[in-house]
Amino acid sequence: MKAIVTGAAGFVGSRIATELLRTGWTVVGLDRISDYYEPKIKLRNLQKLERSVNFTAVLRDINEVDLELHLEGCDAIFHQAGQPGVRKSWGSDFQSYVQDNIMATQVLLEAVSNHAPSARVVYASSSSIYGNADVYPTSELTLPRPHSPYGVSKLAAEHLCALYAANRGIHVTALRYFTVYGPGQRPDMAFTRFCSAIERGDEITVYGSGNQIRDFTYVDDIVAANMAAASRDSIDYRVYNVAGGSSVSVNETIATLGRLSGKSPRVTHIGMVAGDVLRTGGTTELIARELGWSAKVDLERGLAAQLEWIRELDV
Ligand code: UGA
Repeated sequence: MKAIVTGAAGFVGSRIATELLRTGWTVVGLDRISDYYEPKIKLRNLQKLERSVNFTAVLRDINEVDLELHLEGCDAIFHQAGQPGVRKSWGSDFQSYVQDNIMATQVLLEAVSNHAPSARVVYASSSSIYGNADVYPTSELTLPRPHSPYGVSKLAAEHLCALYAANRGIHVTALRYFTVYGPGQRPDMAFTRFCSAIERGDEITVYGSGNQIRDFTYVDDIVAANMAAASRDSIDYRVYNVAGGSSVSVNETIATLGRLSGKSPRVTHIGMVAGDVLRTGGTTELIARELGWSAKVDLERGLAAQLEWIRELDV
C-alpha cells in the first residue's frame, strides 16, 4: 500500500507517516518546509522518517510539484499540509492561508480525481470552522461560522473536498481536529509554550482571561482517526469531529501543568488575540458510530507526555 502524506514534516503529518511506515505502507512525504516556525524542527522530523527505506521525502510545494508522478499507484492521501495558526491569519498574511490551504487543496483534489480516482483522501480540517458556536458540544450539523480568516480558509477547503467528492466521485473524509497536542506539538501552540516556560522558569503569557475553553485532542488519537478514515468503506463524503473530550479552560491546564511538573507557573495576562474563540467542544457520536473511533488519551496523561517530551528536549 502506498500513501502520500502532505505536510509530512509537520507535527501531525510526521506522526501519521510514522504510523503508516510502522504498519507496512510505502510513504511519500510531501512538504515545502515553510518557515512559519523553525525549519530545523521539521527537518528533524523528516530525518527520523528517512530511517525507513519505505519513506521518500519530496520537499516541494503542492502547487508546484508533479502530483501525477507521485500519485501513481497511490492508495491514500493524508492531506495535512497547510498554513496553520488562528492568530496570525490577519492582514497580508492571509495570502499564504489562501495559497496553502485553499489553492493547494484544490490542486491536490484535481490531481487525485484525474490520476488516482480510487484513492482515499483524508483532509485535516479544523474546529476553527465553527467559530463561536451557539451550542456546545458542537455537532457536525452545526452551521459553520468561522471567527478567524484561518477558519475561513479551512472551511473553504472543506467545501472543495465535498464538491470534488460529489462531482468527481472521489473518496474523501474531512476530519475536524480540535486543538491537537502532545509530544512534537508546534512551538507556537499553547502547551509547548507553557511547558517550555515552566521548565525554564519563565513567565507564561496567557491571551485574555484564560477562561477560554478548549476540547484538547491528543496526537495519537488524531492519528488513529486518520487511519480509520482511510479504511472507511462507503464512498459517500463524510466530515467528522475529532475531539478529545476535555472541556477545560486555559487556566485549568496551567494549574495541571504546575502540579505535574512540581513547579509553580508564573503567569502574565495580555489582551485576547483577534480570531481566538471563547470555547471549542465537539460531539463525537458520529465518528464513534461510523468509524468506531473514540479518544483514548485523557488530558492529564497527554499533558504528562508533552511535559516529558519538553524535558527531554532540554529546553
Ligand atoms: C489550534 C491550532 O493552532 C489550529 O491550527 C487549529 O486549527 C485549532 O487548534 C483548532 O482546533 O481548530 P488553538 O486552539 O488556538 O488553535 O490552539 P493553542 O495554540 O494550543 O491555544 C489554545 C488556547 O491557549 C487559545 O485560547 C490561546 O489563546 C491560548 N494561548 C495560546 C495562550 O493563552 N497563550 C499562548 O502562549 C498560546
